[in-house]
Amino acid sequence: MGLPPSLHEHVNTMKNETLFPLYNKGEQIDTPHPPPQKPQGGPQQAHARRVYIETYGCQMNVSDSELMAGILTQSGHQTVTHIDDADVVLVNTCAIRENAETKVINRLKHLNHRKRRQPELIIGVCGCMAQHLRDRLLDAAPYVDLVMGPDAYRNLPVALDSLTGGLEAHVSLKDRDPFLGLRLDKSEDYADIAPIRKEGIRAWLTIQRGCDKMCTFCIVPFVRGRERSLPLKLLVEDVEKLVDQGFKEVVLLGQTVNSYRDNGSNFGDLLYAVGEVNGLERLRFTSPHPADATESMIDAMASSPTVCKHLHLPLQSGSTPVLERMRRTYTAEEYRDLVMKLRERIPDIALSTDVIVGFCGETEAEFMQTYQMMADIRYDSAFMFKYSEREGTLAHKALPDDVPEAEKGERLKQIIELQEQISAEINTTAVGDTVAVLVEGESRRETDKYYGKTDGFKTAVFPKADSQIGEVVNVRIHNTTAHTLIGQIV
Ligand code: 5AD
Repeated sequence: MGLPPSLHEHVNTMKNETLFPLYNKGEQIDTPHPPPQKPQGGPQQAHARRVYIETYGCQMNVSDSELMAGILTQSGHQTVTHIDDADVVLVNTCAIRENAETKVINRLKHLNHRKRRQPELIIGVCGCMAQHLRDRLLDAAPYVDLVMGPDAYRNLPVALDSLTGGLEAHVSLKDRDPFLGLRLDKSEDYADIAPIRKEGIRAWLTIQRGCDKMCTFCIVPFVRGRERSLPLKLLVEDVEKLVDQGFKEVVLLGQTVNSYRDNGSNFGDLLYAVGEVNGLERLRFTSPHPADATESMIDAMASSPTVCKHLHLPLQSGSTPVLERMRRTYTAEEYRDLVMKLRERIPDIALSTDVIVGFCGETEAEFMQTYQMMADIRYDSAFMFKYSEREGTLAHKALPDDVPEAEKGERLKQIIELQEQISAEINTTAVGDTVAVLVEGESRRETDKYYGKTDGFKTAVFPKADSQIGEVVNVRIHNTTAHTLIGQIV
C-alpha cells in the first residue's frame, strides 16, 4: 500500500515539531510574525510602509525574517501581523527542494489576486529561492516588485523607497522597474542589527551564515554564500540580552553550526561561554555536520548543564559510496564510530537525523545500507527526503538523477515506516520515567493542558496543575505515541 504522493515528500516523524531542525517539513512554517512595532529611533521614512513578512523553510529563515523586521523597524517602517493591514508583503523563501519553490510560486499567484484589488501592494520575494532563481523569478511572476537574496536585506529600506518614493508623481508601481538585490557578500553578518523576535520561551540566534561544505546535492552554498561566523563576545552579550528579555532557551543556528570559529575560539568554546550565561535554562544548536563533531563540542555537551543532550546529526546516507558521491567527507563507518563515541560520553543523548533517499546512482543495496544504519542506530526521530535535483549544484552538473521517482517514493516509505516504529518504541520506554519539561504553552487540542519539551527535545503534554509557561516542571510519563509523551506533573 502506497502513501499518498504528498506524504512521500519529506515527512517529518516529529509531527508536533514546528521549530526544529533547520528546515521545515511542510516548508510553510509556523510563521512567527514579529509583533507590530511602533517606529522607533532611526530616520523616519517619507513613505513609512506596513510590512507583512511570511516565512517559508528553515529556522535560519525564521531568524532572517526577524532580522528583516529589525532592519525595517529601525528605518521607520512597521511590521504587521495581518496581511490585510499591509502595503508590502515580503515572502521569505526556501530553495532546498523543488516543492519548496513550487509552493512559493503558488503563493505568489495568490498574492497577485490580492494585488489586483490593491494595485500599489508591493510584493517582495526574499531569501534562498530569490537568490536561486534571480531575475528568472520575474518570468514566472512578473508582478513581483522586489527580489532579494539573504545577504542584501540591509537594502530593504532603500528598495521600498525606490519602489514607493515617487508615488506623488503619479508613477504607479506597475510602471517601475523591480528592485533586485542579489549580491552575496561574505562580509555581511548583520552583527549590528537587532532582530525583532516573537515573544516566547525559545529564541533563535544565528551564529554563522553561509556554508563552505559543498555537498553535491545541496543548493545552500550557492544561495547563502560562503561561511562566516559572528564574534563570540557579541554572541554572549546577545544571549545575556535574550535572557533579560525573558527567553529561557536559546537555539544557536548555523548551516554547519559546529564549524563555528572566531579567531582562536571554536564551537565548543562558544557552547561553554554561552552556557554560562546567568539565567539561561537551556541551550541547543542546529544543525551540526558530523565531520565537525569535535572533542570540544562533545565535552561541552557532556559537561555543561545548560547544553541539552540532544544532537541532530544529519546522516544523509548509510552507504559510503553514496556519501562519497554526496561529498559528505565521512564514511558510514566513521559516522557509526561517532555515534558510538557520543553514546559512550553522553549515555542519555537523544539523536535525530536527516536522510535522503534516491540520490544519484543509489542502488537497492546502497539504500539497504541506509535502512540498516537507521535500524542499528535507532534515532529518536528523523527527517526523511526524496532526492530533489537542484539546478546549480555539483550533482546537477555531474551526476544523473537516475533513480525513478516511484522508486524514491518506495524507499522513502520504507524508512518512514521503520522510523515511526523505532520512535514509538523509544517513547514507550519512557513510561514510568519522570522527565524535566520546560513549559512552552497551552496544548492546541486540550486547553486544560500544557505542552513543553524535554531536554532531548521530545514533546510532552500534561494537565496544567499550578505550573506556568517558562517554568521547568517534572512530568511523570504514563502514556506515549510515536511523537508525544503524555503524563502529569509530580
Ligand atoms: N534533495 C533532498 N533533500 C535535500 N536536503 C538538502 N538538499 C536536498 C536535496 N537536493 C536535505 C538534507 C539536509 C536537509 C536540510 O535537507 O537532508 O540535511
